[in-house]
Amino acid sequence: MSKLIAQPANSLSGEIKIPGDKSISHRSIMLGSIANGITKVSGFLKGEDTLLTLKAFQDMGIKIEHKNDDVIIYGSGLYGLKKPLKKIYLGNSGTSMRLMSGILAAQNFDSELFGDKSLTKRPMDRIIKPLNLMGASIKSNNGKPPLIIKGRGKLKNINYTLPVASAQIKSCILLASLYSEGQTCINEPIKTRDHTEIMLNFFGYKVNTNNNKICINGGKELVAPNQIKVPGDISSAAFFIVAAIISKNTDITLIDINVNPARTGIINILQLMGANIELINKRKLYGELIANIKVKSSNLKAIKIPKELISSAIDEFPAIFIAASCAEGETILTDAKELRVKESDRIKSMNDGLTILGIKTKVTDDGIRITGGDFKKPTDTIQSYDDHRIAMAFAIASLKCKHAIKINDIDNISTSFPNFIELANLSGMKLKKIAGN
Ligand code: S3P
Repeated sequence: MSKLIAQPANSLSGEIKIPGDKSISHRSIMLGSIANGITKVSGFLKGEDTLLTLKAFQDMGIKIEHKNDDVIIYGSGLYGLKKPLKKIYLGNSGTSMRLMSGILAAQNFDSELFGDKSLTKRPMDRIIKPLNLMGASIKSNNGKPPLIIKGRGKLKNINYTLPVASAQIKSCILLASLYSEGQTCINEPIKTRDHTEIMLNFFGYKVNTNNNKICINGGKELVAPNQIKVPGDISSAAFFIVAAIISKNTDITLIDINVNPARTGIINILQLMGANIELINKRKLYGELIANIKVKSSNLKAIKIPKELISSAIDEFPAIFIAASCAEGETILTDAKELRVKESDRIKSMNDGLTILGIKTKVTDDGIRITGGDFKKPTDTIQSYDDHRIAMAFAIASLKCKHAIKINDIDNISTSFPNFIELANLSGMKLKKIAGN
């Protein structure tokens, strides 16, 4: 249980290469494993979460090798997985558990999935319900992990309207639908990240999207595309984007970042607040839109965050709350109840830390109001609450705080951004990790 001491810093500089996108890395292992043929993945995120997905498929008999910086997956087809010898441990990773359940529900063997303290508290009924409709058999602890999955061999197609905007539920159903006959259609209330759809198309599997309705015909095999390149993760870039904006005399560029429109809510929100952010050299990489993101110090003003931008910024609110704390006026967020069921209750976790830093807030059931002001001398050590993004959010507050900020229990940063401290220090922050309790 290491601590982080974030000493005050002034400005950032340089070109920063952010590690690979977590969502796309997970999906590359899953689709690569159940495809026919070899997939070479470059830029794979070697974070704890994605490495646990990789290990889970190795434990189910898939040969996956690390070669230089690439990951090579020897896919063995839709029914090529083998029963794992042990229960599958998925650490902190909700994406692994929710997406893999869609695949495992249709295998010819039973499996059990479990996770760490944070994952054990997260809702799984949201995927159990549609999977049950497809004929799956899953036992849980009152809708939470562990999940005991009885392999059914085949599943049924469904028409399903998502009760919450969630790419994880959508992707779970899409993966399960590969093992069904006929057409499955999913209606989303709001468009969520479509990395699964994009990657399935790359594996030669047609997914039809019409407005917010996604349809797929099950029962066909996936063809390995030889090569996939994973772009930089905008959710990790988010910390550098906000750090740059709130610091002085800063001009940084983040290289090759995924700017899929279902992920760029943070840019839209910060631009509405007056941030100086530019997307340069937009281009396509294996079906995904990427760009370099240029960010300069900016003066921010408070806004009411538009509802329609919430889903495309869902993982970035810890960083956005730090920006809101540095803006002039009161920023208002509503309709964001989903933040309460992430790696931690992010409304509570952020509110606790902001209060320690002397920021005025008002928490509501589905959001928060944050009045911008100076970060004061911290009254206590900030807790990460087992949540990587809470730890990183408070680390970047050091660019606007005249006092050292201490954050407890920060090892979880390596679930998504293993070299965060190193990159932050190279660009001008002053972070120090202290091992032990
Ligand atoms: C993810 C989807 C999001 C996000 C998570 C990763 C994905 O979750 O919060 O970090 O890879 O599909 P929801 O779809 O549940 O909102």
